[in-house]
Amino acid sequence: MYSEDITHYDVIVIGAGAAGLMACIESGKRQRKTLLIEHTNKIGEKIRISGGGRCNFTNINASSAHYLSQNPHFIKSALAGFSQYDFIKLLETHQIEYHEKTLGQLFCNGSAKQIIHLLLEFCKKYQIDIKTNCSISNLIKTDKFYLTTNHGHLSCQSLVIASGGLSIPQIGASDFGYKIAQQFGLALIEPRPGLVPLLVPEESLESFMALSGVSNPSLVTYKETTFMENILFTHRGLSGPAILQISSYLEEFNEKSITINLLPHFNLYKNFIKDKKTKQTPLNYLKAQLTNRLVDSFAAHPDFNKSITDLSHEKLIKIADRVHRFQVMIKGSEGYRKAEVTVGGIDTHELSSKTMESKKVPNLFFIGEVVDVTGWLGGYNFQWAWSSGFAAGNYC
Ligand code: FDA
Repeated sequence: MYSEDITHYDVIVIGAGAAGLMACIESGKRQRKTLLIEHTNKIGEKIRISGGGRCNFTNINASSAHYLSQNPHFIKSALAGFSQYDFIKLLETHQIEYHEKTLGQLFCNGSAKQIIHLLLEFCKKYQIDIKTNCSISNLIKTDKFYLTTNHGHLSCQSLVIASGGLSIPQIGASDFGYKIAQQFGLALIEPRPGLVPLLVPEESLESFMALSGVSNPSLVTYKETTFMENILFTHRGLSGPAILQISSYLEEFNEKSITINLLPHFNLYKNFIKDKKTKQTPLNYLKAQLTNRLVDSFAAHPDFNKSITDLSHEKLIKIADRVHRFQVMIKGSEGYRKAEVTVGGIDTHELSSKTMESKKVPNLFFIGEVVDVTGWLGGYNFQWAWSSGFAAGNYC
């Protein structure tokens, strides 16, 4: 091959998601000749579908405490370099209106497409070349990086991998980033689905099916981690924000049990004691606190229908425990098909927290979800994509 057949760039960014777009813009601002490669025909597809089409683009409370990683301090530098307030300012400057829904989660008032449009306007302004439907069949590094693609031969001084995790393969997720890490000898934290609905074993299915569609504010606990949000019963198990949150903390899904407090704001046992001399039944308390279908699921148990005066303290404790410490065995998860994120990825010990550059391979950068940094539900994952993209874009 003649060198004139190779198109050279200063920077090539692989993956046109939130992180890749941000890195391109920052690199372009520095007048680096930059190319963005995307293997599907869409730009920013996860931005478009996120938050029910309104994109929960950041969280006011974003800090390293809201992320899972083998090295939780890794995120601090990038987050300080480009914080939630910086992204909010960017939207405000460009008249994209937003609102807080709950727990600091910020959503566009209008369509998520406004954000994609804004990022693409910046790409245009900074003359970023974009190739969609572009597949990379070979990648090597000698003096620089050489890429063989269906759009021809390319080379670059700096290569930024922003190809995301494995979640939602239907819209383009691939293991490209992990393969590149392997090729260059970088350590990987085994990926697994995160923010994902959970499945219960066969023997519990009937009771979960009967409750399918019921939502309840609950405190969900796994080991030391707790989340207080809604849970949703499904015909295969559990979903809803509190369950999605806790799912990211389950190292393996099989045979794990989580504890659910179905009445976190009402102490059943204390109230039983207070009313011990009345004719109330445990079911009466539940009826006042929980939706009918959830109450019905306890009605079959004879003790729930007895007057509390006729129940021993031990029995009352057991009854309260069934509601406050409802144990659910988990058989598995709905997998990458339904997972909002991938937990794990490129080991952060391999990367500079300031620049996202590989410590072993100069000029190779990893950003966004492909890295072992996973945010909680609620805008934290996009914030990581913006922050890490910004960091790499300023050094690549
Ligand atoms: P992202 O996955 O967005 O982009 C990677 C890009 O690389 C894709 O375009 C992919 O096609 C491309 N690619 C992959 N392999 C390639 C290859 N070999 N060659 C070229 N291109 C390749 N987060 C949040 O904070 N708030 C929210 O509201 C939501 N909502 C939400 C809803 C749903 C349904 C999902 C699935 C996820 C969310 N998330 C979220 C998570 C969030 O979308 C996610 O963390 C970020 O999009 C990650 O951004 P990245 O740019 O790292 O990867």
